Amino acid sequence: MENFIQITKKINSFSKKINVEGDKSLSIRWVILSSLSKKKSTAYNLLKSEDVFSALNCIRALGSKVKISKNKCEVTGNGFNFENLRNKKKLILNAGNSGTLGRLILGLLINSKKKIKLIGDKSLSKRDFSRVTLPLKKFGARFNKFKRLPIEMVGLENPRKINYLEKKGSAQSKTTIMLAALKSKGVTKIKAKKSRNHTELLFKHLKIPIKIKKDRTFDHIRINGIKEIKPLNYKIPGDISSCAFFIVLTLLANNSQLLIKDININPSRTGVIKILKMMGAEIKFVNQRKYKGEKISDIFVKSSTNLKGINCPTYYNSSAIDEFLVIFLVAAKSKGISYFRNLSELNQKESPRLIWASKILGLLGIKNITTKSSIKIYGNPHLNLNKKIIIKNFLKDHRIFMMSVIAALSFGGKWKIHDRNSIKTSFPKFLEILKKIKA
Ligand code: S3P
Repeated sequence: MENFIQITKKINSFSKKINVEGDKSLSIRWVILSSLSKKKSTAYNLLKSEDVFSALNCIRALGSKVKISKNKCEVTGNGFNFENLRNKKKLILNAGNSGTLGRLILGLLINSKKKIKLIGDKSLSKRDFSRVTLPLKKFGARFNKFKRLPIEMVGLENPRKINYLEKKGSAQSKTTIMLAALKSKGVTKIKAKKSRNHTELLFKHLKIPIKIKKDRTFDHIRINGIKEIKPLNYKIPGDISSCAFFIVLTLLANNSQLLIKDININPSRTGVIKILKMMGAEIKFVNQRKYKGEKISDIFVKSSTNLKGINCPTYYNSSAIDEFLVIFLVAAKSKGISYFRNLSELNQKESPRLIWASKILGLLGIKNITTKSSIKIYGNPHLNLNKKIIIKNFLKDHRIFMMSVIAALSFGGKWKIHDRNSIKTSFPKFLEILKKIKA
């Protein structure tokens, strides 16, 4: 199949019910944590995407046994130490496209005395790793360099507990430190700017000694080092970040509605819903329930005709960080100006997303003023295109691809969007589900 997609027609009205695939953050965390238990862990609805397969390959290389079948995945780990690696010659781990995996795996390796080399694809090799190598150095790890992959790391048998201030609001940095803390003696204290808290909830579920105090901006986390953890049996809920593409598609379509089943609505992930509601969207959580500390719900959304621009409160930034691309599409079709600030982290993703958002909005004919950390979008409620648009060379960023597809189906025009295979990293069934919505 060709590695691009052509779209020449807006989507017709629809009324559908869909499921999306398992949450990526939870899937990768499940893989990493299950590698720490000597007993068998089972996951249902694990996301079967390239990022998760890279994670499974990494823990396999570190000695875990992995069995994947149609509806479940089983991992039997090899516990906390890496004695099994002693006689291996050279260890190269490939994190592929995944920042989450690349960063978390370094935390896991804090107590491995074996030199490991971590590599990744072109996009990952451009991303910042100092956000994890610097705290890991405080634990006692040694690196050949700090900033970008490929990086070589040597851990130590008895990592030192640390105190750390995590200022970026990066859940990946926070989780990396939490994993290293598990293997250190004593209490590690992390003051972390708020970010998604799946790891904290999983630690609590696994009865790992963790204490958390919260203030408005920071979480104060204390973790005691331990020697072993229990297996983690888990049913991964649907990914709100995948779901967001279809929520926006529905909002921008004519007379349509969509019910999306079994989505993780952890409040540290639902910034997209809060922001879209501020813009006038009708979105409801239906059938809310709890699962192992996480909140799950179905999400109901209807097309909106009254979308309005907003000055987006920055306290939503971290809980909507992966969804801004599609939020910007809503801003493009809203009445008035929208303003999003303090978003420099968006340029640290699989591609520099703020720059890309500005380019794509420009192609749509939407005026925007973009700096290194902010974007002002001048909405046009009558946005309707019939020109040719080509999207390419975006470092195969899956979310740029999917955003472009949603833009094409919402605003019209004749689109050719390259790198269709990029969706394999996070949401392989994206186009299949879209077909179902269109049918
Ligand atoms: C993730 C954290 C976020 C997010 C990424 C997944 C995670 O990144 O953008 O897609 O699973 O912890 P940062 O930690 O860089 O904010």
